[in-house]
Amino acid sequence: MRFDDITVDPTRIIFWGARAALEVRSPLPGVLRLRHLPCLGHAALTLRELPAKQSWAVLEQPERPLSFRQEARGEVAVVRTEELSLEVQPDQGSWLLRDAAGKELARCEGFSGEAMPDYPVTRFRSRLALRTPPEEAWLGFGEKVGALDKRGMHFVFWNTDVLPHHPDTDPLYQSIPFSMGLRDGVAWGFFLDESWRLEADVAAENPALVKWESSGPELDAYVFAGPMPEEVVRRYTALTGRHPLPPLWSLGAQQSRWGYENAGDIRAVIHGYRAGRLPLDSVYLDIDYMEGYKVWTWDRTRYPDPAGLAKEAAAQGVRLITIIDPGVKAEPGYRIYDEALAGDYLVRNDRGGVLLGEVWPKPATFPDFTREPVRKWWSQQHREFIEAGIAGFWNDMNEPACFKLINGQDTFAIVTAAAADLGKVEGPTLPHDARHGDKRHLEVHNVYALGMARAAYEGMREFAPERRPFLLTRAGSAGIQRYSAVWTGDNSSYWAHLELSVTMLLGLGLSGVSFAGVDVPGFLGRASGEMLVRWTQLGAFYPMLRNHSGKGTPPQEPWRFGEPYLSLTRQALERRYRLLPTLYTLMHQSSVEGLPAMRPLVMYAPGDVEALRMDDAFLFGRDLLVAPVVRQSRTRRHVYLPEGRWLPFFNLAPSGEIVEGRRHLLAEAPLDTVPLWLREGGALALTEPALHTTTANWSHLTWHIHAGPRVEGRLYEDAGDGYGASRVTRLAGEWTGGRLVLERSVEGELPQARKQETLCVYGLSAPRQVHGARQHRFADGVLTVEVEGGWQRLEVVS
Ligand code: GLC
Repeated sequence: MRFDDITVDPTRIIFWGARAALEVRSPLPGVLRLRHLPCLGHAALTLRELPAKQSWAVLEQPERPLSFRQEARGEVAVVRTEELSLEVQPDQGSWLLRDAAGKELARCEGFSGEAMPDYPVTRFRSRLALRTPPEEAWLGFGEKVGALDKRGMHFVFWNTDVLPHHPDTDPLYQSIPFSMGLRDGVAWGFFLDESWRLEADVAAENPALVKWESSGPELDAYVFAGPMPEEVVRRYTALTGRHPLPPLWSLGAQQSRWGYENAGDIRAVIHGYRAGRLPLDSVYLDIDYMEGYKVWTWDRTRYPDPAGLAKEAAAQGVRLITIIDPGVKAEPGYRIYDEALAGDYLVRNDRGGVLLGEVWPKPATFPDFTREPVRKWWSQQHREFIEAGIAGFWNDMNEPACFKLINGQDTFAIVTAAAADLGKVEGPTLPHDARHGDKRHLEVHNVYALGMARAAYEGMREFAPERRPFLLTRAGSAGIQRYSAVWTGDNSSYWAHLELSVTMLLGLGLSGVSFAGVDVPGFLGRASGEMLVRWTQLGAFYPMLRNHSGKGTPPQEPWRFGEPYLSLTRQALERRYRLLPTLYTLMHQSSVEGLPAMRPLVMYAPGDVEALRMDDAFLFGRDLLVAPVVRQSRTRRHVYLPEGRWLPFFNLAPSGEIVEGRRHLLAEAPLDTVPLWLREGGALALTEPALHTTTANWSHLTWHIHAGPRVEGRLYEDAGDGYGASRVTRLAGEWTGGRLVLERSVEGELPQARKQETLCVYGLSAPRQVHGARQHRFADGVLTVEVEGGWQRLEVVS
């Protein structure tokens, strides 16, 4: 391909080829949009105008100026912003991306594609290939299996309900075509803003190329500057949105099971938690609460008084969350179906009839959430449930899953050659040519859940405006974080799935989905007591912690396994509640900056290959390194600590001598132990355990500080829900061997709830003087200081 003409506007440059175009824009600092159109129609070429394109993922962005330089026609053209420059080779149709320092970030070999007129619609194929040096790592890709570095893998982006899935199953439920390249310690990002079915070959077929292929007419790419991985994530989430701060209660322990049959079962679960002195904040109601799987109904024989049940639960500090599936039973007289038919809200088959399939309801129809009026109608349905006291919603089967098509045989399913060759699972879902207004399913399949989530989110905002929404979804696409938390679907009680959860959640977190979790201790299969303990220990650090299991499997509530597992699980849950001030602060940071709570070690050691490979450990925020035991019967585990000094902080208590990083260690981890390390300069805010959350204006707070040349700590507090007053506390410290000065500054209107705080400072020698403390003591290398709630400065002279 070659470009033989260029349109230069202040905010966009378009390179024109014989049948193709490449448009360059800069929507945000450090971000370029590169729209590759390989098979333009005649009209676009003669009018010199690109077809309009709707984005589901990207927030509206202002136009930013670009600079353009080309010495002579046919020479390399350079498009530049302050942070990035793009060199386009007109005679090859290729481009090269550099950062401000001139370092090469990425190189596109070129792009190509075909439009294939077909019955009933034109089919497309669009491809591009990026050169990748052998040492480049590839992170992200949303909810994908495999190691943290996805080099050598091949992915399909097509939301799929898979049961059971295995450690190599692809695709799963989410499609987020965002990736982060990491080479020589420099990170950059690449995102394809396409809702169409996509494939990515991450240097698997050809180790020198990352290839993307879409079944749509173009490849609308965004590239992001680093150089640190954090900056790439910040920029990507500035483009696609961030998870709004969730209510505190949703960060507490959650219990669920497909198999709770009636209100009595729900009461028994809550009772079991309280009798076992186990922390719990919410219980889920799975599909059996509905009457005949009719969404937005209650089976009144099983749940005679949902509002009463919600009240009883609330009295025990527990919220109820109901599952909401998209499939609407086709049954005349059922209000939802009647309204959907009357309003023309349903997906149609190719011949124009309402598409009928089978999910839990049978026959089932599918609301078309790609259209605004349908979303509006669906959001209204949340009202009655919210009024009955339902605190949150759980969107499931929203790929959408369809076990069987009933009148799908008169549709014409387009199976692309590539897909057929690869033998990939395309279903169970709707046929490619099902109709969503003027669009076909192939184009909008991946954003079906996004539309449904948006409707739920907007419904919650409308009918409970004083509260912050909590929504959990199985399927999703880029931008899903704006509305919903995500869980990774129907895993199994395999140790391999426990281990895999770490890289899956890390990949999701890098891809914008910061509020996520997996079913603990596995949805299918039989978990052992040991597995429950190890999984809950790890889950205490998941952004979302839910115990869930499938129908027909042994029950998995913590007391089902006897001792010592019950006590050990209680300990793990209590640890979770102690961590809440920090987790809540991280979720707040995520709502502002997009950074996930769970971060790969390589986030702050981008040039360290050992850190990259240590992907069954992770960072909780910036400073706490978590190395969970992920194998059966293991009582010690190998861990690599990146550069810096680290305080062993097993089970959230100092537990050994400070060690120098860039080192491999063997950690002792009997069944009651989670190996943790606190980074030098880190300040971790912990509270006391509780049976459920109340407020995030903590009445007990202890800062655990690992003294370092620079100390940094941060705490966000508010009522725990709603949109009222908040307070951000910052700790900043300097330590010069003999003298540590810590300063605390506060911003925000929320009045402080505590009269005193405790500081535990590690790494100091016995102090000679302590200024600014009410009391202090020094024992076993730990300086414990009691300070006034409103303290501002602490000085320790050793
Ligand atoms: C799906 C969900 C699972 C749920 C079940 C019944 O398999 O992934 O979490 O329990 O449906 O609703």
